[in-house]
Amino acid sequence: MSIVYLNGQFLPRAEAKLSVDERGFFFGDGVYEVTRVVRGRLFEWDRHARRLARGLRELRIDAGLSLDGIGALHERVVAENRMTEGQGTVYLQVTRGAAPRTHHFPPAGTPATVFLSATPFVPPNELRARGVAVVTYPDYRWTRCDLKTVNLLPAVMAKQFATDHGAFEAVFLRDAVVTEGSHTNVFGVIGGEVRTYPNSNYVLPGVTRDVVVELAREMGIPVSETPIYRHEIAQLEECFLSGTTSDVMPVVAIDGAPVGTGKPGAITMRLYEALARRLAAASGTAAPATVVA
Ligand SMILES: Cc1ncc(COP(=O)(O)O)c(C=O)c1O
Repeated sequence: MSIVYLNGQFLPRAEAKLSVDERGFFFGDGVYEVTRVVRGRLFEWDRHARRLARGLRELRIDAGLSLDGIGALHERVVAENRMTEGQGTVYLQVTRGAAPRTHHFPPAGTPATVFLSATPFVPPNELRARGVAVVTYPDYRWTRCDLKTVNLLPAVMAKQFATDHGAFEAVFLRDAVVTEGSHTNVFGVIGGEVRTYPNSNYVLPGVTRDVVVELAREMGIPVSETPIYRHEIAQLEECFLSGTTSDVMPVVAIDGAPVGTGKPGAITMRLYEALARRLAAASGTAAPATVVA
C-alpha cells in the first residue's frame, strides 16, 4: 500500500480523502509537478521548485509551506515508500483549497490543499530503442501554457486522439507552428541544428527541455530556440520528445510519414545518452540511468 501526503498527514493512499468542495475538483484551480526520483534522489528539484513557485505566484495561491518545506515533503514521501533503489516519480498537487463554489477566490485564510504521492517508474527504454510515432493535433489550449495547472482537458483529448491512432504522443500545432506535445516538449533537427519552440506563454518550460538545451550547448551541438513550422515537418532529419517520464524519446513517424531514415536519429541518441549520464550522476552512481532501471 503506498503512502501519500495530504494536508499535513502521511497516510495510506486508500485513507486519503478530499472534500467535494475542493476547488481542484470544481475548477482545476491548482498546479502540479512531477519530479523524477533515481535511487531515492530527486532529479533537478531546484528547477521544479522554481517553476512551482512561479506558478503559485502567478495564480496567487498560497501553499502555506515554504519551497524548502515542499522539497522536504518530497524527500519524506520517497522515504515513506522505501524508494531508495530503482526509479520513481513524485507527484505534487497544490490547489486553492476547499470552499463553497464561487468563481472568485475563497475567503482569506482558506488553506490550500497539498497532496504528494510517490510511484515506482521504469523508463520506457524498449520504446526508445525503436522510436515512437506521433500525430499532430490542433493546439486549442489557453495562452498560459507556461503554467503547469491541473486544467489538463485539452491534453487529455489530444493524448486520447494519439492513443486512438496508435501513436505515443499528440504534437500540438498552433497557427501552423509546432508548439509542444500533450505532456512533452518537442525538438526537431533541420540542417544539423536542433530546434525547439522558445520558452514563452505558448509552451511549458519543461525541466527536461531546459536540461537538453543545456546539454546540447555543452556538447557543441547547434541548438536554437526557434519554432518548427508545419511546412518544415517533412524536412525534419530527426525529431524527439523530452519530458520527465520520457527523457529523450526519438520520434520516427509523424502523421504516418517517416522522419529522416525512420530510425532514431544520431543527435537524438547522443542527447539521450548525455541525459542518462546526468540522471545517473544525480543518483550518485557511475552507471548510466538505463542500467539502474
Ligand atoms: C504540456 C507539457 N509540456 C512539456 C512537459 C515536459 O515537462 P518536464 O520535462 O518538466 O516533465 C510536460 C510535462 O508534464 C507537459 O505537460
